[in-house]
Amino acid sequence: MNEQTPLPLEAHGLRKAFRGRPRIDDVTFSVRPGRVVGLLGPNGAGKTTTIRLLLGLVSRDAGDALVFGVPYRDLERPPQQVGVVLDAGGLHPSRSGRQHLTMAALRAGVGADRVEAVLAEVGMSRDADRRAGTYSLGMRQRIAIAAALLGEPRLLVLDEPANGLDPAGMHWLRQKLRAFAAAGGTVLVSSHLLSDIQEIADDVVVITDGRVVAEATMAEVLADPSGTLEGYYLEVTGTEGMVR
Ligand SMILES: Nc1ncnc2c1ncn2[C@@H]1O[C@H](COP(=O)(O)OP(=O)(O)OP(=O)(O)O)[C@@H](O)[C@H]1O
Ligand SMILES: [Mg+2]
Repeated sequence: MNEQTPLPLEAHGLRKAFRGRPRIDDVTFSVRPGRVVGLLGPNGAGKTTTIRLLLGLVSRDAGDALVFGVPYRDLERPPQQVGVVLDAGGLHPSRSGRQHLTMAALRAGVGADRVEAVLAEVGMSRDADRRAGTYSLGMRQRIAIAAALLGEPRLLVLDEPANGLDPAGMHWLRQKLRAFAAAGGTVLVSSHLLSDIQEIADDVVVITDGRVVAEATMAEVLADPSGTLEGYYLEVTGTEGMVR
């Protein structure tokens, strides 16, 4: 590996327990530049916690979490390097989408022109001045994605970004993530939508019970006898035939 160009994301032996129960247990994986990487796993597997550990939002018990070779907190101007969508619940209901993005632009150290650009990019220009409390789930999600794009980052980390998006929004998001990677950007995206991930991801990392149970390229995944990400996923998570 070239020392000059650190990987966008690296998890080395990450561990985290909540109330004495190990929830993230020796998680190791890396994300290569220019790739879209799908982070998959059942409810409660540890996807969100892994993402929060990578971004330094949760303290780790052991291991290392590196973003472009350094802990997230040591990044210079993080919003201009990493765009993050964690959950769309963080919008203040009485503030408009534009107000949210204007404040986020200040924090990110980017000009107000970026606010209009990202509003247009996520298709929210028309509704930008409505109070966020009146937004649908998908509209809140679009504003969260817009905020992640403000600093024109080279890495996107998205926790279930398709949550609540309508078909056109999902289509837009898939195109967006592919174009982002084609332009040299890198994406880590968690999702339960396996057909979407099959369409856009170059690599997948599968977590169950806080452990990485599979790390593969999409070509390897599709070489599975089922020929689908769903078949591969059911097999590696041991949930094939399970009725939920
Ligand atoms: N702050 C916390 N305190 C206690 N337990 C937690 C906390 N955060 C996460 N957990 C537990 O850690 C485990 C992993 O949770 P996490 O949210 O990372 O799963 P996930 O893979 O994102 O699931 P989902 O697909 O439902 O979003 C779960 O058992 C969860 O209850
Ligand atoms: Mg989650």
